[in-house]
Amino acid sequence: MDHFTYKDGHLHAEDVSLRDIAAAVGTPFYCYSTATLTRHYQLFTQALSPMPHLVCFAIKSLSNVAVLKTLGNLGAGMDVVSGGEYLRARAAGVSGDKIVFSGVGKTRDEMALALNGGIRQFNVESEPEMRALSEVALSLGKVAPITIRVNPDVDAKTHEKIATGKKENKFGIPISRAVEVYAEAARLKGLRVVGIDVHIGSQLTDLAPFAEAYQKVADLTVLLRAQGHTIERLDLGGGLGIPYTRGNEAPPLPADYGALIQRTLGHLGCEIEIEPGRLIAGNAGILVSKVIYVKSGEEREFLILDAAMNDLVRPSMYGAHHDIEPVVQPAPAHDRASYDVVGPVCETGDTFAKARALPHLAEGDLVAFRSAGAYGAVMASEYNTRPLIPEVLVQGDQFAVIRARPSFDEILKRDTIPVWL
Ligand code: LLP
Repeated sequence: MDHFTYKDGHLHAEDVSLRDIAAAVGTPFYCYSTATLTRHYQLFTQALSPMPHLVCFAIKSLSNVAVLKTLGNLGAGMDVVSGGEYLRARAAGVSGDKIVFSGVGKTRDEMALALNGGIRQFNVESEPEMRALSEVALSLGKVAPITIRVNPDVDAKTHEKIATGKKENKFGIPISRAVEVYAEAARLKGLRVVGIDVHIGSQLTDLAPFAEAYQKVADLTVLLRAQGHTIERLDLGGGLGIPYTRGNEAPPLPADYGALIQRTLGHLGCEIEIEPGRLIAGNAGILVSKVIYVKSGEEREFLILDAAMNDLVRPSMYGAHHDIEPVVQPAPAHDRASYDVVGPVCETGDTFAKARALPHLAEGDLVAFRSAGAYGAVMASEYNTRPLIPEVLVQGDQFAVIRARPSFDEILKRDTIPVWL
């Protein structure tokens, strides 16, 4: 469920008309709904309520500090994967003891930043990383709390670019070597083992791979405890999928996911941490764009928008589908046209949708890409020197620009000319 609906003939974000936001900030822009972010976060806390838990929002999916503050104020923890994300979480007022640090290539500088600033745990992904972290912690006179990310060799049945739990993937240590690696971790003076971490992939639309992975984590918990390790937290990663095609898909609900966690791991008495990104942010955001031209090709009609692959890369990168809706509500029985929806970037890959059936649209019309809150703004670039587009947050009948569109002056100023030129 989300809070983007037609009211009085226009698409609204909560009680604000997107036409009004477009008039105020120009297009294209991202727009997020506070009510949807809140609802999605609370679905997870409710789903996990029978167990001690912390829902750590995966900042990589949507990292604007205002969004993080919205979630942080509700009590959310944060999952970060870089020093920059750590600083974003802190800037949003989230305390270090609610931040987990994931990622396959944390640098020593990033480790020191988090150790000095305060951190709940590092999710360690390899033996060299574990040794480096111990050294960094000792050099600072600290002890780093860690989990070790195990790779359970489970097929997440998702897009190959976002599956992470198979043995050929770069993530975690093979679960078959966990005993050995935990034994070494226990010997390293700068580390304190607190639990186990697992994350098998993103946009999972079936609970079976989670069940398989979590069962393996349950068995491993028993095994490691028997060897004297303290396993008091289980970080289960993120990955629960969302419907991208409205009315057509019904991925599992957070409540079902929570029940599965309870069933497979509840008896162990551990604190459960999860790291959802997409399910909280995805359908809490849209991208609004304007039709620049409608161009008739020899075989196709092209809808050329002012948004492009640099603003929302998911269609060209993963072949992802995003529903597109006109901001002006179409008449109940309207004719449809078939459009190739494209951006202005000089690449054929700059295509959002092919042969998409949409109401007839004309120059100047506004359209909204649905489900663009997660992995939208955060993956944007300035390719073709197109400024990063603004982000807007709505709450009830208010809206605020939470990241402004940079001016060309600001963009050009970042380049510097060497003395010899
Ligand atoms: N935890 C870890 C360790 C992760 O690697 C990820 C996502 C998450 C949590 C959050 O997963 P989520 O709940 O959002 O599925 N750019 C791609 C998605 C990449 C996901 C990377 N890792 C996309 O646009 O589909």
